[in-house]
Amino acid sequence: MQAFNKRNDSIDFDRVVSLNNGVWWVGFQDKESGLRCNPYLIIEGDEAVLLDGGSRPDFPVVMMKILETGLDPHKISALIYDHYDPDLCGSIPNLEDMIENPELKLVTSGFSQMFIRHYGTRSQFFNIADMGYKFTFKTGRQLEFVTIPYCHNRGSYVVFDPQSKILFSGDMFGTYEKVWTLFYGFPDECSSAGSCVECQNDKSFCRLPGYLDFHRKLMPSSKAVHFALKKLKGIPFEMVASQHGSILDRSSVDVLIKELESCNDIGIDQVQPEE
Ligand SMILES: [Fe+2]
Ligand SMILES: [Fe+2]
Repeated sequence: MQAFNKRNDSIDFDRVVSLNNGVWWVGFQDKESGLRCNPYLIIEGDEAVLLDGGSRPDFPVVMMKILETGLDPHKISALIYDHYDPDLCGSIPNLEDMIENPELKLVTSGFSQMFIRHYGTRSQFFNIADMGYKFTFKTGRQLEFVTIPYCHNRGSYVVFDPQSKILFSGDMFGTYEKVWTLFYGFPDECSSAGSCVECQNDKSFCRLPGYLDFHRKLMPSSKAVHFALKKLKGIPFEMVASQHGSILDRSSVDVLIKELESCNDIGIDQVQPEE
C-alpha cells in the first residue's frame, strides 16, 4: 500500500491524471470542501464516455480537464450516471452544450431516469437493463454494470471496467474529509489488525472512521450495504474509483469491506426513536 500512496508524489492535482488503459481522473482538488467529487473519463479508440460528470459549479474545471487530455468533446458518446443526485448530474445540460453530439447517450437505470430528466436533459436515455447491463465501445471494449439497490438510491449500480480492472463505485466506498490525496492505501498493518474499534497499532490518525461515518450517513440501512458487499466482493477489481474521496487499492477496499460487514448501525439502523 505504501507504493500505492507513493503515486501521489509525482502528481499535479491541478492537471488531469491518467490512471491506466485510457482511464482519466478529471476531478479537482478542492481544499475547502470535505465532499469532493470525482468524475472519470474513459477514452477508447475514437470515442469516450464520462462517468458521473459532476455538479454545475464544477463544470468549468471538469471540462478544462477533459480538454487537457486532447479529446475532442464531440467524441464523447455516452454520459453514465449511477444515480440522480446533483453532485454528479448537475452539469448534464452544460455537457450536452459542449459535446453537441445528437447521438449522445444518457446511460442510467430506469428508476434514475425519472429524476434525471428534471435537470432539463435533451439526449436520449438508455436503460442499463435494456443494454444487458453492459456498455460496448465501437472497438468491442466493454464496461459492466452491477446493480447495488439502495446504495444509496433504488437504482444505484457500479461500473466495472475489466480492461483497467477499475471499479467505478459511485457513492459506495466514498468518504468526506479534508485530508485528501488522490490515491490512498490504508497502512499495511490494517489488513491484519482485526477489528479497528481500537487501533492495535496505536495510530493517532486513521481515515477509516471517516469512511465508515460516510456509509452510516449516506446509505439507507445495514441490510442494503451488506447485500451490495456480497455482490461487489466477487468482482476482480484492483482499484476502486469512487465518486467521493480517494482512489483505493484492492487491499484497502478489502479492509473497508471487512469493517462494513460488521457494521449494523448504518442509516435507519442507527436512528433512535424520538423520546
Ligand atoms: Fe449520491
Ligand atoms: Fe455522491
